[in-house]
Amino acid sequence: MTGYEIRALAAGEERAAFEVLGRALHVTVTDELWRRRAASFPAERRFGAFTGEQVVGVAGSFAARLAVPGGKTLPAAAVDGVAVRADHTRRGVLTALMAAQLADCGRRGDVLATLHASEATIYGRFGYGAATRGKTVRITPTAFRDDAPAGGTVRLLTTAEARELLPGLYAEMGLTRPGMIERPEVWWAHARERLIGEHQVAVHTGPRGDDGFVLYRTEARRTFDHPNRGAALVVQDLHATNTAAAAGLWRFLLRVDLVSEVHAPGRPLDEPAGAMLTDPRACAVTGVDDDTWLRLVDVPAALAARSWGPGEPVVIEVTDPQLPGNTGRYRLSPTGTRSTTAAADLRVTPETLAMLYLGDARPSTLAAIGRIDVADPAALPHADTLFVTAVPPWCGTGF
Ligand SMILES: CC(C)(COP(=O)(O)OP(=O)(O)OC[C@H]1O[C@@H](n2cnc3c(N)ncnc32)[C@H](O)[C@@H]1OP(=O)(O)O)[C@@H](O)C(=O)NCCC(=O)NCCS
Repeated sequence: MTGYEIRALAAGEERAAFEVLGRALHVTVTDELWRRRAASFPAERRFGAFTGEQVVGVAGSFAARLAVPGGKTLPAAAVDGVAVRADHTRRGVLTALMAAQLADCGRRGDVLATLHASEATIYGRFGYGAATRGKTVRITPTAFRDDAPAGGTVRLLTTAEARELLPGLYAEMGLTRPGMIERPEVWWAHARERLIGEHQVAVHTGPRGDDGFVLYRTEARRTFDHPNRGAALVVQDLHATNTAAAAGLWRFLLRVDLVSEVHAPGRPLDEPAGAMLTDPRACAVTGVDDDTWLRLVDVPAALAARSWGPGEPVVIEVTDPQLPGNTGRYRLSPTGTRSTTAAADLRVTPETLAMLYLGDARPSTLAAIGRIDVADPAALPHADTLFVTAVPPWCGTGF
């Protein structure tokens, strides 16, 4: 790549960079949109690609701790706002931005980087792997089973109440699954303007206080031929600390009048919404997609922080051309992880390791399709039980 300068964005360059992002995502950046987004698009942690004075590419991130298997949280870069202007694409600009960003993450002490990918073909080459998935469900209103968890109350908030209450509630609820991230103020700055402003917000209260919330919007479903068809509710964000709170929120959504269906994309793979209904087929899984992608920026620190399932020790060899400090052999065991000079049982790429790390993919599955180089096949069942997690990983935060 020639002719581009890659450097940290300076104060005063934010709007020009945001316009690059807007154009790439086919959104017109008006003064009004920028007024609402400026607080959530700071120059800090953002890199630009410049030709002369002009910014033509951008990649940013915000700092957010990410939960790993076993319950610890690690410093992570939540990567957002990645774009290259259409008249400068396919010349290596993104590649250079990713290199600058990963080096910066390393300097800052981020152990992980995570992102939502617009296309699944882009980020594997930079060492990211699809690490969490979500299912999309479509539920037609139907009765709940008598034995479904019940109790608690649900109340609708005003926009002002939601802006005030949700940040603290999300923080108090904690990160209950591997892959979930904290939502720092810069995230809420965006959410207050867009998500909360454009959605209805309901909160569930259980015996110990508020323990769940849902953000949803409505889409008209009436047509000339079907004038009585109710609206669709589209769930943007639903978090609950316990199954009674989750059941209460689903029950609330399915009892809203004049609604023909509830759509919820990006739900945890094991969420049992359908099993609470008298007619489980009223809940159709209409898709399963990658949720977040993960990059292990500091492999030794990441491996040391997560817990491991029962299994004989396994030696994995990681080769990381982009972050060579990660290259090495690591002995994984239920009692911990350490670097080793022992022979490798399994050889993984950074992308493959990221797919395994939070517990989404199984080593034997990836080995069977050639994504892991197996030196000792006897190690695979042990690797499967070492990497497995009690619950599927899930992020549940858009950024
Ligand atoms: C995705 C995007 C940032 C790529 O920028 P870019 O500067 O063209 O990327 P690069 O030139 O560095 O490409 C690096 C490699 O990725 C490939 N690649 C880049 N974008 C791709 C895409 N959308 N689909 C498939 N491959 C892609 C390139 O072909 C190249 O492959 P190579 O290494 O084998 O040569 C740019 O196309 C864009 O802004 N798209 C619209 C916004 C968007 O999707 N942003 C990402 C949000 S998560």
